[in-house]
Amino acid sequence: MTTTQDLINGLKELQSMAIKMYAQSHGYHWNIEGRTFKQDHAFLLEIYNDVFDSIDTYAESLRKIGAKAPFGLVQLQANSLLKINDSSDLTSEQMFVELSKTNLQVIDKLKDIFDVATEQREQGIANFLADRQDKHSFWQWQLTSTLK
Ligand SMILES: [Fe+2]
Repeated sequence: MTTTQDLINGLKELQSMAIKMYAQSHGYHWNIEGRTFKQDHAFLLEIYNDVFDSIDTYAESLRKIGAKAPFGLVQLQANSLLKINDSSDLTSEQMFVELSKTNLQVIDKLKDIFDVATEQREQGIANFLADRQDKHSFWQWQLTSTLK
């Protein structure tokens, strides 16, 4: 049995994970180097724009179920255990490996919290989480293909 508080905690965790993945993909966009710079730089822009847009919906989903939306950097950092590799000296291949690791953790968390949202009969939020899983799966396919 889950509670509304479980959904609140899950959404806060996902919001935090999205912010970390956003920072990671934008940071890699700035620092990536190599012979395929142009396309890698543009690919990372696509990812960080998509993930950035999701942050607002996590926050507004929290408001819809009666919780306040966190915005302080310290609180946001504390709301998930996800650690990103924020080195600016990685090779392009290492950056895509690291981003792929982050993305897989986001997908796992989305699956868990989708189940909580469904159990709480929050269908709109469940829909949003299903859409996010689909989008992060799309990025996973593209990241994995880039690494082959
Ligand atoms: Fe840019």
